[in-house]
Amino acid sequence: MVSILIDDDMLLRTYELEDAQELFSAIDSSRPHLRKWFSWVDPTTRQEHSLQFIQQSLQQQQQQEGLALGIFYNRHIIGSIGMHNWDHHIKKAQIGYWISKEYEGRGIIHKCLIRFIDFLFQKTGLNKVEIHFMTLNTKSAKVAERLGFKVEGVIRQSHMHNSKIEDIVISGLLKSEWNPSLIA
Ligand SMILES: CC(C)(COP(=O)(O)OP(=O)(O)OC[C@H]1O[C@@H](n2cnc3c(N)ncnc32)[C@H](O)[C@@H]1OP(=O)(O)O)[C@@H](O)C(=O)NCCC(=O)NCCS
Repeated sequence: MVSILIDDDMLLRTYELEDAQELFSAIDSSRPHLRKWFSWVDPTTRQEHSLQFIQQSLQQQQQQEGLALGIFYNRHIIGSIGMHNWDHHIKKAQIGYWISKEYEGRGIIHKCLIRFIDFLFQKTGLNKVEIHFMTLNTKSAKVAERLGFKVEGVIRQSHMHNSKIEDIVISGLLKSEWNPSLIA
């Protein structure tokens, strides 16, 4: 179980099976906002699908393949932060995140990611984290930039999303570049 206290009201923690209903409600209430960027949103039509996601995430955490943490605000799930494609040899992984529409634009993801990235560099042995986002996802681009990620390139027409082929921006952050005290 990974648990990262953000402040008095907010916590990041590994999902439990009992969180399936809360997780599904958070996704369901932000469907148009999330489906623009994630292909898994449309097939997530029932609580059971969120339960399957949690089961899969727990298995991946146990096998050190990835990590999925809920963002709990006053004990309610308002978003999610995760790490996947964990390459132990290269010590590199990708991170992903979303926040409910209602809580967007308040700096919550920024605050949570500072703590999460710190955890990844200090506790998991990672040397590099990447964020991959579609070129049109300006909000995600800003998240990465504010945290000091550098754009490393654009992989053109390499990702299928909602029946369209999209360009993907790869941005990366090295452990040697990470200095949370310099981030506003
Ligand atoms: C991408 C996403 C997580 C960004 O969420 P966000 O709330 O904009 O991100 P942040 O936590 O960095 O907040 C930044 C915003 O809060 C504002 N803000 C308010 N208080 C702040 C604070 N104390 N610190 C930082 N920003 C603050 C910033 O001005 C900024 O607003 P702006 O976008 O109008 O410039 C969100 O848009 C989302 O869930 N999108 C759908 C899923 C998605 O695209 N995920 C990423 C896939 S790669």
